[in-house]
Amino acid sequence: MAEATAEQLAATTINDDGIVPKAEFSDRVPINSIISRADGGSGLAGKKARVGGWVKTGRKADKDAFAFLELNDGSCPGNLQVIVEAGLVAGELSQVVPTGTCVVVDGELKLPPEGAKQKVELRAEKVVHVGPVDPAKYPLPKMRLTLEFLRDFVHLRSRTNTISAVARIRNALAYASHTFFNKHGFLYVHTPIITTSDCEGAGEMFQVTTLLSEAERLEKELVHNPPPTEAEVEAARVVVKEKGEIVSQLKSAKASKKEIGAAVDELKKSKDTLSKLEERSKLKPGIPKKDDGNVDYAKDFFARQAFLTVSGQLQVESYACALSSVYTFGPTFRAENSHTSRHLAEFWMVEPELAFAELKDDMNCAEAYVRFLCQWLLDNCLEDMKFMADKFDKGCIDRLKMVASTPFVRVSYTEAVEILEEAVKNGKKFDNEVKWGIDLASEHERYLTEVKFQKPVIVYNYPKDIKAFYMRLNDDSKTVAAMDVLVPKVGELIGGSQREERYDVIVQRIKEMGLPLEPYEWYLDLRRYGTVKHSGFGLGFERMILFATGLENIRDVIPFPRYPGRADL
Ligand code: 4AD
Ligand code: MG
Repeated sequence: MAEATAEQLAATTINDDGIVPKAEFSDRVPINSIISRADGGSGLAGKKARVGGWVKTGRKADKDAFAFLELNDGSCPGNLQVIVEAGLVAGELSQVVPTGTCVVVDGELKLPPEGAKQKVELRAEKVVHVGPVDPAKYPLPKMRLTLEFLRDFVHLRSRTNTISAVARIRNALAYASHTFFNKHGFLYVHTPIITTSDCEGAGEMFQVTTLLSEAERLEKELVHNPPPTEAEVEAARVVVKEKGEIVSQLKSAKASKKEIGAAVDELKKSKDTLSKLEERSKLKPGIPKKDDGNVDYAKDFFARQAFLTVSGQLQVESYACALSSVYTFGPTFRAENSHTSRHLAEFWMVEPELAFAELKDDMNCAEAYVRFLCQWLLDNCLEDMKFMADKFDKGCIDRLKMVASTPFVRVSYTEAVEILEEAVKNGKKFDNEVKWGIDLASEHERYLTEVKFQKPVIVYNYPKDIKAFYMRLNDDSKTVAAMDVLVPKVGELIGGSQREERYDVIVQRIKEMGLPLEPYEWYLDLRRYGTVKHSGFGLGFERMILFATGLENIRDVIPFPRYPGRADL
């Protein structure tokens, strides 16, 4: 978290030997424990501290007698001003000034001159380490860089104010998520990343296979060491036959045991050679195929087709149907060719699953969770949020406050469509046609949450034809007990539903959707044995960060974004 905890701050003041205590497990005082105190660090004046960080900006002053460094170590958005005298640096003083240089110094905290904006600064007494930077080569110079430019340097962009603020906000939201579910008695379950079931049934899965690399390896091997020709195999067969005949002749001539034994050994060797040749002669370059021409996945790593998961839901359901309230939080993968600012090929999802719970309970849980996250950021990440408000989105803090304190609007899908139709009648233009049965487009979702209600909206009871097979069929047989949470800035933040717990109904739904039953047999067991009403949802973690920070592009809120055409590092 950005701000030091009360305990950490207390620790920096109770020690009375004149030295600010270092962080546990590292050799320096975190900068936040100096400047994030209520007094901005002024109460520590006169104390000694070792600090380390990367220079944000540095300049020489007083005819190169001093350098002023703004040092940041990522513990908070703020920098500590460090003053280094020329004599303390082994080489040139200019070595410590370039942006990006790593510096560790021992020094004394001092009150700055009257009128300075910082409350405390560090006067260096010893330079312990310099990790230099060649400013002519460093890709992230001091000037303001666009987020788009920074995407080409994902390994260095965490040094920037924006990406480090996002990292702290992301961390805070993850911690808040675990806190929320823990507080409400949910168990954290690790669902698999490699799966053989397609949860959403949307065919957007990345395949996990070693067949391609195996095929490549074999192809190379066959070039160096070609398979035997049919003539070579035939020649080996002839040798086996000859050796066999020799053995029979020796036997009928009642030759000595030793002689027969030697001939049998020869025969065995020739059979071995033949079987190896036959085996190699069957090797064919390319992907293994079955007789019907389809790929032979029995030869693949898992002896069947496997994929990266699009959602941990199906597996976490099996734990909900035993442990009642559970959640999973992990990476999910979708091979959709979306180039939007709201889609990634690899993103993180928080997926709670509740047994003995209907759609209403699910909506209540989703609402409580999102509101908890917003309040958490206000309570624990305000400095970073102020930075985002200042640099990117003036309204982001007010938005968090509004969501934390406002009950969400709930409208049925049918009502939502009526609202949109009404808007069209009144002159609103959408790119996508509005009529009952459509999947709401992002523009529709944003109209509902940003224009019509100006707060989060939960839309529920969607037409069954546009939703996944596992959602519970409503009594009208036309809609399912699904719900999406829509929020300003982002549109869909959460997708969830009550699950179909009735065996016959779900089998019917799987068939209706043209999905094969076999891979879902285990899932059907949850309905065959001890079935129970249950519900759950998935919150797109990066969408939550977009919502909180007000940033425009989802590629800037995950450390290493993956999207079509791009997977750096
Ligand atoms: O609505 P979705 O597809 O729901 C599920 O996967 C359910 N199995 C969840 C559950 O009930 N346990 O995805 C859930 C959320 C979306 O609302 C959205 O916020 C996010 O995941 N999401 C994406 N985020 C980034 N990039 C993508 N390509 C995303 N696709 C979905
Ligand atoms: Mg969805």
